[in-house]
Amino acid sequence: MEWDELDLETVTPRQVRQYLRDKYVIVASNRGPVEFRRDPDGSIRPYRGAGGVVTAMSTALTATEAVWISAARTREDALVAGGATGRRLHMPPERPQYWVKFVVPDREDFHQYYNVISNSLLWPLQHYLFDITRRPSIDETVYEAWKNGYRRVNRLFAEEIIREIRSTDKKPLIFLQDYHLFLCAAYIRRREPDVLIHHFTHCPWVQPDYLRFLPQPMRRELLQGMLANDVLGFHTHHYVNNFLQCCREAEAVRASVDLKRRTVRLGERETLVRHYPISIDHEALEKTAGRPDVLHHRERLRSLAGDRKLLVRVDRVEPSKNILRGLQAYELFLRQNPQWRERVIFANLLYPSRLDLPLYRDLKREIEELSHSINREFGTLEWDPVYLEIEDNYPRSVAALREFDVLLVNPVIDGMNLVSKEGAVLNVRDGVIILSVGAGAYHELRGSVLPVNPLDVAETARTIRNALELGERKRKAEAKAAREAVRANTSFKWFVQQMRALRYVERLREEARRRPEDFPALPSYERLT
Ligand code: G6P
Repeated sequence: MEWDELDLETVTPRQVRQYLRDKYVIVASNRGPVEFRRDPDGSIRPYRGAGGVVTAMSTALTATEAVWISAARTREDALVAGGATGRRLHMPPERPQYWVKFVVPDREDFHQYYNVISNSLLWPLQHYLFDITRRPSIDETVYEAWKNGYRRVNRLFAEEIIREIRSTDKKPLIFLQDYHLFLCAAYIRRREPDVLIHHFTHCPWVQPDYLRFLPQPMRRELLQGMLANDVLGFHTHHYVNNFLQCCREAEAVRASVDLKRRTVRLGERETLVRHYPISIDHEALEKTAGRPDVLHHRERLRSLAGDRKLLVRVDRVEPSKNILRGLQAYELFLRQNPQWRERVIFANLLYPSRLDLPLYRDLKREIEELSHSINREFGTLEWDPVYLEIEDNYPRSVAALREFDVLLVNPVIDGMNLVSKEGAVLNVRDGVIILSVGAGAYHELRGSVLPVNPLDVAETARTIRNALELGERKRKAEAKAAREAVRANTSFKWFVQQMRALRYVERLREEARRRPEDFPALPSYERLT
């Protein structure tokens, strides 16, 4: 049977391995599955990389042998990579399944690519988070950063990928991840015109009016870069539509868009635009939840809450996550509902993030200040209404998702949001999930969560109360529905869908070669110079 005819519901890792026997999977993302750091005793230790890309991709790759290329983020990454044979490491160390390789950009180039372009221009753009009265001011330094940072690091990734393609007799399948690598496919095409490339965007895609805030030359380069892929993946059909609409805007690229087939043609090339919602590996998560360090944190959280209700949030300290409004809503809830004081505790279990940027540092400080001010105003000798922890601590997060009575997930906007999905499958208390309608996950979880408008603090305060007071029958039913909705989809399935899309493109090309008259313009890629 042909690979793309396999039933998505029943396909097994074995079948995937079988299919991939003569293929070579190359994944590239800015942040990789592992980061090396030096411990106080001087030894170098691997730590799990943060973020949704890592969660989803790591699972998908357990079904195949692959290489994962990412940017070295620490001095130790570069050291370890330099010392390894062939500059590759077998990961994860306890049960090696795939290879990890680092590209090591020049420090200043990395700063321009990561801090100036990826995190201060593209990320806020993709999340509708420009502070349009003040930020960004796109001046010469930003243009320079695009030229000397963003382009250069994308080229560095492309060169490493090309080296990998040429190191094997197998058929390469390339999976590029996220907004850091929007230009990469175009650089790969110049030297490897026919290789199969898939790009997945892990954040939202905006509407054309908003994309227009990006200067025209950058917008054109970005769209051309993306349209050098064979397939573009997004989390929701909404983002797919936005992307297609952006391509119709003739002033940036001269592309023709087929809304029905969801394809974009630029010159001789045709790109498929698809959506597959990313998910989690619930079996692996269950295993993690049984680990002693997770059990330890569960006990710690339970004794922190005592017989009070545990309201939880787990997030990176990130403007799109809307942490301040979560605290404001809780403050309002305590003010309006004195009967709930001393009966609930709000644990904000956060990860530090992007601390090189003043915006993120300021946000962290504001979160700390607001938490303290709530504790000052409402706290008693026995009770701190807010518990705040900002540190990298994965077992703690898993423990909190196991134990919450109410989980607050209120991002302003979020590509998917895996915390809500992890919470749905991990929780053992029939906890209630409050979910922003701005999270991609809301499309799958609506009906089994309590929705909130992320900007509406008054509504969020009311919803916190409703969640805490929801009757047992309703709680059980919603928790079950949420669990089932998440279990119906896995990160393995997400990866399989991408491979199928690439296989579909490959078959179209084979057909086109056999019967050129029926497929006048199907993509044999022109060599770009
Ligand atoms: C999101 C992005 C990822 C990114 C992660 C963490 O999930 O989609 O690409 O890796 O945030 O952000 P950071 O800048 O710390 O890698």
